[in-house]
Amino acid sequence: ASHARTDVGDDRPAVIAHRGASAYAPENTLAAVDKAAELGIRWVENDVQRTRDGELVVLHDDSLRRTTDVEEVYPDRAPWLVKDFTAAEIARLDAGSWFGSAYAGARVPTLEQYVERVERHDQKLLLEIKNPELYPGIEQQTLKVLSNEGWLDRHHVTGRLVVQSFSAQSVRNVHKLKPAVRTGFLGTPPVSDLPAYAEFTDQINPSYGTLSLGYVSSVHAFTGPHGKPLQVSTWTVDDAETARRVAGYGVDGIITNKPDVVRDALRGK
Ligand code: G3P
Ligand code: CA
Repeated sequence: ASHARTDVGDDRPAVIAHRGASAYAPENTLAAVDKAAELGIRWVENDVQRTRDGELVVLHDDSLRRTTDVEEVYPDRAPWLVKDFTAAEIARLDAGSWFGSAYAGARVPTLEQYVERVERHDQKLLLEIKNPELYPGIEQQTLKVLSNEGWLDRHHVTGRLVVQSFSAQSVRNVHKLKPAVRTGFLGTPPVSDLPAYAEFTDQINPSYGTLSLGYVSSVHAFTGPHGKPLQVSTWTVDDAETARRVAGYGVDGIITNKPDVVRDALRGK
């Protein structure tokens, strides 16, 4: 079967570095973006949340605990939620030492710093709005930062940016606020619900364990808000065998902590 695969990336399927090349550098840091670039990977995925004073930062967990030294620096601030810390407090944290001493001093990037680094490498961004229920208005604010960075022009919105979330409401908000922006829904909705999703999302992005050839074909049969077949990017695939299997299902993108492994598998190495 031939599936229309447009705008996702240069490799087919696109290889998307999950939280950056996060098997090799601390997740969601600029070092992980650099590592992906070094490996020649065009797409990076990240997670966006908001500080107490309203700055957007890139971090996966709702707490700073696992991926920074926040527990040592602010011992009395448990459970160390991002939303309870100011941007200045977060900027002081070490987001690299937990991963390895070579990365000591890596910081939690602001969204602005992150986008600038992605732009510098001429990469593409799969931006996840994480825990939107904790951050009212985060969709509008994310779009504002992207706009300030020049990422809502035609060049970017047609092929270099996708905004995704596990929250259908959040994806719908992004679509309503800026219909030109490509969007993705994280999950595996039943096929009977896909017509409703196709109103506001360009991609259905499921965990690989839920995928089948039939499901991917069903998704591709729907036309998204930009007049193209809905696409599928699946996560988080770190081994060659699974990468080849899901590529055989016809997925458009593979989100991976080990983008070099997946790319080599797809190239038959
Ligand atoms: O991009 C998909 C994947 O990142 C979703 O899961 O928990 O890693 O954000 P999570
Ligand atoms: Ca994510």
